[in-house]
Amino acid sequence: MSTNPPFPPGFLWGAATSAYQIEGSPLADGAGASIWHGFSHQPGAVANGDTGDRACDHYRRADADLDFMAELGLTAYRFSVAWGRVLPKGTGRVNAKGLDFYQRLVDGLLERGIQPMVTLYHWDLPEALEARGGWRNPDSARWFANYAATLFDALDDRVGLWVTLNEPWVSTVLGHLSGEHAPGRRSLSEPPRVAHHQLCAHGEAVAAYRELGRHQIGISLNLEPQQPATDSPQDREAARRRHHFINRWFLDPLLLGHYPDELAAIFGADWPRFPPEDLQRIQAPLDFLGINYYSRGLVRHDPTELPCAARRIAPPDRPCTAMGWEVYPEGLTETLLWVKQRYGDLPLYITENGAAFDDPAPVGNQVQDPERVDYLRTHLVAARAAIAQGVDLRGYFAWSLLDNFEWAEGYAKRFGLVHVDHITQCRTLKASARYYQALISEGG
Ligand code: FCB
Repeated sequence: MSTNPPFPPGFLWGAATSAYQIEGSPLADGAGASIWHGFSHQPGAVANGDTGDRACDHYRRADADLDFMAELGLTAYRFSVAWGRVLPKGTGRVNAKGLDFYQRLVDGLLERGIQPMVTLYHWDLPEALEARGGWRNPDSARWFANYAATLFDALDDRVGLWVTLNEPWVSTVLGHLSGEHAPGRRSLSEPPRVAHHQLCAHGEAVAAYRELGRHQIGISLNLEPQQPATDSPQDREAARRRHHFINRWFLDPLLLGHYPDELAAIFGADWPRFPPEDLQRIQAPLDFLGINYYSRGLVRHDPTELPCAARRIAPPDRPCTAMGWEVYPEGLTETLLWVKQRYGDLPLYITENGAAFDDPAPVGNQVQDPERVDYLRTHLVAARAAIAQGVDLRGYFAWSLLDNFEWAEGYAKRFGLVHVDHITQCRTLKASARYYQALISEGG
């Protein structure tokens, strides 16, 4: 028998999604276009020319999707708000119809006994704000805080958990350095400022929340342990640099009030001097930290891989997902313990964890996805191991409820517990959904 305690009482069993990935109808009811709308319509930007125009058609099928959540027995659901539905130009006039959609969604969750966790920004900046310089413009902090305040006013009476930003590392690095994500920029000098302005935006939104809100607010970061691919000093140094670049770039300023010195070394002359008062704003106390965990980084020294001369490689002889990401559940325990050790006892949520596999098509009313079942099981065991070692973990959100628009990969990569036929929009519960349902009903 396992000596680990069960999951703590009140532990949230959730699933996560984001607006642009599932909603479709991106311009409906007066919504303003987002950078992902513009980007996905550029030829060659997304695999197979896919766009989020239809996605999972969740904007029109939210009621049916709420019923799937209830059938699964979810006790929580993490979704994001499309900024441009609520404020079509990003600032200024509120679009009541856009806001209504989220009001109804929250009401529908509560009617089914499901707690909403609302992410304010999951990468879909209004195009009108990109035209004003997007996250490169220091005013973006104020734009975001005003948008956040609109939602706090409208929904905090019913929403207990707020996430300011989802994975600002990804929107900084893939959006402004490698150009694989919207807005598709390739620059070595922009990322430090883009990251900094997102952190300031987070800090200002938290400050606004302390005035307007009554519940809890945090941020979701992608974290992954970095390990050298070989024992060579170069690979070990590369793994160390990548660890600062990925795991500490955002956490250190948020929780310790300063950037790691190594970032100045990594970016060299492109690393600006940031005003100390900004760092104070960024360090506004959080109620919780959301951790998105998928894999580890196995790292090779590679001077061509900028900015940190470190490349993540796919390990030979280890199981990988359809994304080419190694299945490495022990890294989840390591990550949770590292956060506790370095930053102290902050309440934590796993706000994303999941895997893409090449699932077979539904047969009858079934989709067999044994690798995803195994992925969920082993990662939940890993989470429980961290709890047993004193980590204050309060919930788990599987990524994702539905097969959806996987950014630059389009619809080719399926992460859902629920299979979506992207032509008919027919939904089918996968074996992993059944597994999760049984686990939730037994309290984990
Ligand atoms: C995370 C994103 C999420 C999804 C998963 C697979 O980085 O937050 O939207 O794409 O990866």
